[in-house]
Amino acid sequence: MYDGGKIITGIVIGLVLLTFPIWYTHGTPPPRPEVKLPEKEKKCVQPGAYMKLKHMQLLDLWRDSTVRAAKRSYVATDGRKYEMSLQNTCMSPECHAKKTEFCDRCHDYTGVDPYCWDCHIPPKEEPKKEKPEENVH
Ligand code: HEC
Ligand code: HEC
Repeated sequence: MYDGGKIITGIVIGLVLLTFPIWYTHGTPPPRPEVKLPEKEKKCVQPGAYMKLKHMQLLDLWRDSTVRAAKRSYVATDGRKYEMSLQNTCMSPECHAKKTEFCDRCHDYTGVDPYCWDCHIPPKEEPKKEKPEENVH
């Protein structure tokens, strides 16, 4: 025997749960995070739009060429040369020295948690005045 009342109640509860994310946020996603771009160096290794999409692949490539092929020099599409280094190039004082205001803001927003800084030393930022550690391997 079917119990129509229970089935309808079930469908209604199901629909409410399914559409919860839409009506709970009134259909608008949370505001985009504000990331702080470097003040000194205005040009990234590759154009911003490319970096937004591909920085993970680029970093993987840098890591693999350095660690596996002992190749440390990167020539960008516009001919400029860089040392392939997360700490010494990407996160140097002229560039993304503020991890918390750049990388972290976007990663927190998108729910990404790269494990790179389990080993690599993040740049020292002002508010944290802890033990002075050398920024080298
Ligand atoms: C504009 C937003 C944004 C900024 C700024 C940003 N990231 Fe990311 N990053 C992402 C997103 C989104 C992903 C996840 C992409 C995916 O999973 O396909 C990601 C993934 C990564 C990954 C790969 C993680 C993994 O486990 O595969 C690395 C490494 C990384 N980011 C490094 C950095 C570094 C270093 C910085 C700062 C110098 C930075 N990102 C700044 C958005 C950003
Ligand atoms: C288990 C420790 C460990 C983790 C985790 C790790 N690395 Fe490394 N990484 C190293 C070591 C060791 C080297 C070799 C250092 C050298 O030869 O200069 C290296 C070298 C690199 C290099 C080239 C050298 C340099 O100065 O940066 C890049 C780029 C790099 N890693 C990126 C990453 C990224 C991106 C992640 C996260 C997705 C990551 N690494 C996670 C240990 C680690």
